[in-house]
Amino acid sequence: MPAAWYGWYYLRYPYRVPACAGTFLFRDASVMRANSRPVTSNQTGPHEQRHAIVRKHAQSTFLKPLSPASCAAFTLAMAAWRQAGGSLILDAGCGVGMSTRRLAVHHPGSFVIGVDQSADRLQRDVRWPGTPPRNFVTVRADLVDFWRLMLAEGVHPEKHYLLYPNPWPKKDQLGRRWHGHPVFPAVVALGGQVECRSNWQTYVEEFALTLTQLSGVATRAERYDADPATPLTPFEEKYLMSGHALWRCRAALPAPVPPSSATPGVIPFPLSARD
Ligand SMILES: C[S@@+](CC[C@H](N)C(=O)[O-])C[C@H]1O[C@@H](n2cnc3c(N)ncnc32)[C@H](O)[C@@H]1O
Repeated sequence: MPAAWYGWYYLRYPYRVPACAGTFLFRDASVMRANSRPVTSNQTGPHEQRHAIVRKHAQSTFLKPLSPASCAAFTLAMAAWRQAGGSLILDAGCGVGMSTRRLAVHHPGSFVIGVDQSADRLQRDVRWPGTPPRNFVTVRADLVDFWRLMLAEGVHPEKHYLLYPNPWPKKDQLGRRWHGHPVFPAVVALGGQVECRSNWQTYVEEFALTLTQLSGVATRAERYDADPATPLTPFEEKYLMSGHALWRCRAALPAPVPPSSATPGVIPFPLSARD
């Protein structure tokens, strides 16, 4: 790997911090505010173009070049996982990594990879309470690359979380929501137990419809009553403190078909529901 690439990615292995006697010392004041406004949108329900756009993505080959930084981060994340062993959990868009740590604690037999593109979030100086688990890693990478690299390398998560993704609520922003993005067929082709959470009902409804369209697996958006005492992520905590309703959708996607092509960027999976 060229030496210059090392400056492009961020990788943080589990590290030890002093136990804080159970006190939650989360330093991120910006996400601790209880005055978050609910999502507003000029959409009144699932986007009417969603089905056609998803069909187009499923029938196309998404060939955006992979960034060297994402490739380097992927290599390191895979090395950390292989060294640790266990089934794989992907925390896609992990932000500061709170959910990555919590999932690692909840699933001691698994290895959790948290991926986020934001160096600022990943490097934020957070004092985590208690002894950190050792079965996780957070890496800085573009998920659009990371997902396709996983698929090309035949790496399939047992569980896959997309927690409070940016909603992109304007009607003309459908293509920025994960399910409206050309990479989404690759996300579905990875298989595993997928869970998406949001404080915007429409996002989760669209996500569920798209999972079903691409996989044939029935799923739907449902209200999610998270425990305010144990939020999984800072955004979940912020929305709970602000009194927002939370939504989620879960689906056990079928085991993936072995890849027929090793070309990164090419989705080698014949998706089951391309109608
Ligand atoms: C609204 S925040 C939610 C963070 C965290 N899951 C939580 O609930 O606190 C969405 C996160 O997705 C990350 N993100 C958005 N697009 C991304 C991409 N293409 N690749 C990696 N991370 C991305 C952002 O950097 C941000 O941290």
